[in-house]
Amino acid sequence: MTLLIETRQLSKIFYEGLPNEVAAVQNINLSVEKGQAVLLRGASGSGKSTLLALLACLSKPTAGEYLCMQQPVSRWSEKFLTRFRQEHIGIVFQHFHLLKGLTVQDNIVLPLVPLQLSRKEKAYKVQQAAELAHIQHRLNYMVDTLSGGEMQRVAIARSLVNEPTLLLADEPTAHLDSENAQKMMGIFEELKAKGRTIVMTSHDPLVLQHGLFGQVVVMKDGKLV
Ligand SMILES: Nc1ncnc2c1ncn2[C@@H]1O[C@H](COP(=O)(O)OP(=O)(O)OP(=O)(O)O)[C@@H](O)[C@H]1O
Ligand SMILES: [Mg+2]
Repeated sequence: MTLLIETRQLSKIFYEGLPNEVAAVQNINLSVEKGQAVLLRGASGSGKSTLLALLACLSKPTAGEYLCMQQPVSRWSEKFLTRFRQEHIGIVFQHFHLLKGLTVQDNIVLPLVPLQLSRKEKAYKVQQAAELAHIQHRLNYMVDTLSGGEMQRVAIARSLVNEPTLLLADEPTAHLDSENAQKMMGIFEELKAKGRTIVMTSHDPLVLQHGLFGQVVVMKDGKLV
């Protein structure tokens, strides 16, 4: 058994010590094995996105420790974290965060821009990721012209283009109708079958009932319950 994620008393307190202090994530101990899919659920404001940002190394904990791929990432500087993210982590944001005015292809390639790859290598990786996310037929379209479901698939393709070991998705069905949400869960099933480790937040009943997840974690007021 290989642990891909291990957190020890992980906490994130915003405005610590101030009157407006928010304990968004408190003393979380979470273990995720490689190849597992974990669902993070809980009411709005319970700390799901904050925990996901910590797991994505996008945000620094205020206390506790985070080991990702057995590396003590919570002790690393921003420079090392950026590199680690580029190489190992894929993120699907709740609001897609696609760049308007660019094509699908140009959006998917974005995580590869800082890496030293040839144009041909980049094009190959974009094609592979687009196929995994079932959006390869739209590569030359402007993202602005796509449907919500297609935009979400572009966001998934972009999260996959660096072939991440760890895939994090924050409410990925929030803007999708049930048909597109089903399709998207199908894509995540395929990714899991290919050995990806997935952590997804959601309160969508369609996602909660899905058989993808080997572990369901419930958050309440920043804590695991
Ligand atoms: N950057 C921030 N600065 C201050 N407070 C924050 C920040 N981000 C989140 N919070 C607070 O932390 C708490 C947890 O927020 P979080 O976004 O993690 O909840 P969530 O479970 O993802 O909610 P939702 O289901 O609505 O997306 C909330 O009280 C929120 O206001
Ligand atoms: Mg959230």
